Amino acid sequence: MDRLSRNDRIAASLIEWGSGSLRDLPWRRTNDPWRVLVSEVMLQQTSVARVMPKYEAFLDAFPTSGALAVAPLGDALRLWSGLGYPRRCRNLQATAVVLHEQFDDHMPASIDELLKLPGIGQYTARAVLAFAHRIDVAVVDVNVSRVLSRLEGVPMKARALQDFADELVPQGLGWEWNQVMMDFGARHCTVRSPLCDSCPVRTQCKYKGVGDDPAQLSAGVSKPQPRFEGSDRQARGRALRAVGDGSQRITDVIEAMRVDESRAEKLIASLIDEGLLQRTGNSVTLP
Ligand code: ADE
Repeated sequence: MDRLSRNDRIAASLIEWGSGSLRDLPWRRTNDPWRVLVSEVMLQQTSVARVMPKYEAFLDAFPTSGALAVAPLGDALRLWSGLGYPRRCRNLQATAVVLHEQFDDHMPASIDELLKLPGIGQYTARAVLAFAHRIDVAVVDVNVSRVLSRLEGVPMKARALQDFADELVPQGLGWEWNQVMMDFGARHCTVRSPLCDSCPVRTQCKYKGVGDDPAQLSAGVSKPQPRFEGSDRQARGRALRAVGDGSQRITDVIEAMRVDESRAEKLIASLIDEGLLQRTGNSVTLP
């Protein structure tokens, strides 16, 4: 079998797998580039289950890039609460400002222009091209990387993964293909229990669940999440939540963080440094 026909078979089998079983997710019901961008930024480090309830509320408040561009960052951070990694929210607003001021609230449709936007990297740029502009590019996240390196049976570097992924995209079906790959990785070719016996690409797969998992040594494999309990991330989240709920004296915020005072002070300083809190005298507010 030559290379082309192997790729075609993989694509056809996986598209067929997805045709009956794609999850119905809110960001799959829109081509609006702003709504797609917001979903992709939220989904980068947060699970589908946690993003779902926050996504609609955020877009009700900020239905366009213009709406977010002119809002106080604090309003956005309040709605971001629970998603974690609030720098993403700050970067998203910075991107909204550029879109509003330089692009008349239209999303660029070229990868180079997208990559210039604050906080937007290869993954997000390609996701916007594929899911909003319906351009045939491959979107490679951690789930997709795992599927691809198992198919090839060897650990792969980022460049090789992207090249292989780009070769596989069936012409004119980029949107479907990328959604299918994400679901296939999340639900079928999972990290710990891939369903190899009922796999639609078993014939094409070089791994088949036997021996060392090539995905483990591939680029983009997610590292085990660092412990959240007792982490700086948890204490910083508590600080932002306390301030968002109206507690503004630094002493009260420190108490809400439930870590020792000097650590709390350092973390508050880091939040101020990153533009996520503002200090006036002995108080802090959301920006
Ligand atoms: N994670 C990132 N993008 C996604 C999408 N479009 N569907 C499901 N999970 C995702």
